[in-house]
Amino acid sequence: MLLHVPQVLSSDDVAQLRQRLDAADWADGRETVGVQGARVKHNQQLPDASPLKAELGSIVLAALQRHPLFFAAALPLKILPPRFNRYTGGGTYGFHVDGAVMNLAHGEQLRSDISCTLFLSAPEEYDGGELVISDTYGEHEVKLPAGDLIVYPSSSLHQVTPVTCGARVASFFWVQSMIRDDAQRRLLWEMDTSIERLRQTSADPGAVLQLTGVYHNLLRRWSEV
Ligand code: NI
Repeated sequence: MLLHVPQVLSSDDVAQLRQRLDAADWADGRETVGVQGARVKHNQQLPDASPLKAELGSIVLAALQRHPLFFAAALPLKILPPRFNRYTGGGTYGFHVDGAVMNLAHGEQLRSDISCTLFLSAPEEYDGGELVISDTYGEHEVKLPAGDLIVYPSSSLHQVTPVTCGARVASFFWVQSMIRDDAQRRLLWEMDTSIERLRQTSADPGAVLQLTGVYHNLLRRWSEV
């Protein structure tokens, strides 16, 4: 499921993060990929051990916690501490698939079900830099306002096209969902949004209650919690 989650961060939050990031020490983005990724990845990242990465990452996580749309769509079980990257001067990341298993602190691991990119540059700040996601329905080009998030299946091939002018700054992270299967997660999301719409109309309360029960019982049946 490809989903645009608008306004995860306010413009004030974005400005605060950008002020810190624009003055940060960036490292080669190939630090955090395997051999396959290193061949096509040409960007910069905040180093994994950077205190700034941890500090700004917690701001992003707090914003996600406040966003009901993100929660309903992703049904997160674990979220990788957010990372930050920057593409400039022709920087690009060719077609690749994200690693399936990531290491968290304390020896814990996360299976990447959902990939997330939170845009921190406005589209008019740079040329190029589209996130291109290839799935069974073809290729989708994504370039969102600063503060907006795109979530997409980690199983999809994707790339970031060369940034030919300006700088594309973003936060990115992965989610292990309570619902591993993308199609099941999508069904739950569609049911959830339609129940919410029914609730706001004069729909039969008994029928809404029954549907709500079906939603929770499917979640109970399918979730890995
Ligand atoms: Ni990727």
